[in-house]
Amino acid sequence: MTNVLSELNNKVLTITINRPDKLNALNQATLKELNAIIDHAKDDDETAVIIITGAGEKAFVAGADISELATTDAMTGMKFASYGQSVFNNIENCGKPVIAAVNGFALGGGCELAMACHLRIASDNAKFGQPEIKLGVIPGFGGTQRLTRLVGKGKSMEMNLLGDMVSAHKAEQIGLANWVVSQGELMPSVEKVAQQLAQSAPIAISMTIDAINKGLECALPDALDYEVKAFGICCASEDKNEGTSAFLEKRQAEFKGK
Ligand code: COA
Repeated sequence: MTNVLSELNNKVLTITINRPDKLNALNQATLKELNAIIDHAKDDDETAVIIITGAGEKAFVAGADISELATTDAMTGMKFASYGQSVFNNIENCGKPVIAAVNGFALGGGCELAMACHLRIASDNAKFGQPEIKLGVIPGFGGTQRLTRLVGKGKSMEMNLLGDMVSAHKAEQIGLANWVVSQGELMPSVEKVAQQLAQSAPIAISMTIDAINKGLECALPDALDYEVKAFGICCASEDKNEGTSAFLEKRQAEFKGK
């Protein structure tokens, strides 16, 4: 694989979109490689947490590859959007926490990729946006939907209709970025969060992600009912015994994901 690199360290898999000369734009080959890595990571016991970032100093991902978009017709466009959405759904539902280390431009498909991740930590040079409108199209990898859920209808309308970029600090203010650090601090800070997540109880982590994601898609009574069931499942885990015992014995818990 050349368009996407991956490296596993202490249960944290770092995935780097690696087309820096094209600002890490997502062409079909890159999306396929990314999906294959996520598929492998889902079932890999050695991977507890995933970080996604972009190669180079300038971009996280500057969008879907515009040179491919230029020759896309209705049918291939639908196929491309549908495939992109399936890859991003795969990320969102991979059962492990995924952190976007947003190190520069996160535009179009890049903003959509970051939004499919569970946390977005941005460097202060990052810029977010859904500029598709300027190309005469709309976002196809979830931008009209995930952005609305993250920042609300008003800001989503603004970003999707005007297509202008927002700074990292603005993104933090509106809830698009979780927090912002300096460029040099980005990876150390993301790795620290990843280690914290890697040491947490895997079943509870996965159930939390699931309850939040599924809950957003249904009415509150159904969402709360889902939470009740997920809570019950956690109560049946060895990790819950370990977590509660460790608290009472005033020691650090060692979770096993069982
Ligand atoms: N698809 C394909 N190639 C892209 C790209 C994309 N989404 N974004 C950037 N590139 C390429 C440029 O064509 C250029 O390639 P070249 O050197 O072979 O000409 C290279 O990456 C560097 O980009 P450049 O535009 O020269 O950098 P810049 O610093 O002047 O501008 C951006 C940076 C991000 C503002 C600008 O590249 C841009 O607007 N990109 C498109 C963003 C977009 O509309 N995304 C949504 C796509 S659906």
